[in-house]
Amino acid sequence: MTNLPGPGPTAPASSGHAPASKTLRDGGTIQPVREILWGPSTGVRKYETSDELPSDLRKLIVKLMVVQADTEFASIQQHRPWLDHAPTLEDRWIEARIIADEARHGLQACRILRDFGEEGQMWIDELLAKKEGEHKLDAFNMKFDAWADVGAFTCLVDRVGVYQLRAFQECSYGPLARAMPLMLSEEQLHLNFGANVLRRMVREGSKYAGTPEEAQTAVRRWYPRALDMFGHSKSETSRKAIEYGLKRWTNEEARERFVSETNPILQGMGLEVPSADFDRRIP
Ligand SMILES: [Fe+2]
Ligand SMILES: [Fe+2]
Repeated sequence: MTNLPGPGPTAPASSGHAPASKTLRDGGTIQPVREILWGPSTGVRKYETSDELPSDLRKLIVKLMVVQADTEFASIQQHRPWLDHAPTLEDRWIEARIIADEARHGLQACRILRDFGEEGQMWIDELLAKKEGEHKLDAFNMKFDAWADVGAFTCLVDRVGVYQLRAFQECSYGPLARAMPLMLSEEQLHLNFGANVLRRMVREGSKYAGTPEEAQTAVRRWYPRALDMFGHSKSETSRKAIEYGLKRWTNEEARERFVSETNPILQGMGLEVPSADFDRRIP
């Protein structure tokens, strides 16, 4: 796995709690912990059921899970046509695997929503009825017109997904925190696959699939949508989420971390990285 930065700046400088907190701060293997690790409630037991949640936090978790599930189900719709059209047998198999993983992630987010009773079920019904083009985030309403789009999407958009999930890692809501490790390891496969597709397109060109120019066009198409996915720089919701111990980073901090990880990867392949404000819709 690419070395991601350690816990966010809101993590306590010294909590004096279980060794797991220290492990987290040092960026080591993360063991499940029962206490809230950052924000004003540091050291207090995590929330384990939906009825323990303060109403603001409850609303926030429902909102974030709806967006999470929406992206998972949307990406299945985007990948589906490539099950039969990916260039190699291995690529078709990985497409099938990605679709199965995204379905499982959608299910996992919906299981969390189900714990919110009737309200959660209403959202699940709505999510399952959504068609292509009706999703919340722009990146999930765009078709994969070429194989390069599959590569750029999985390399860039799935990588944003990893940052979103890492922001929830060991968060204050136990059921959500426990869903993270498996989802993260599956997402890692997706983004490595995406980087590999782009790399091969640049190196091998039509011997593999497409051309280096197609890879570059796809990067220009998806990079700004990936940056937009982090949300507004001055988002009040992201500030609140940190305070509740739910998310580690503000939108802007996560976006900056993504940029410093991703740009060298693309440049290392010989691809040009668009500027951070190119074609952006969400400032
Ligand atoms: Fe996913
Ligand atoms: Fe994914």
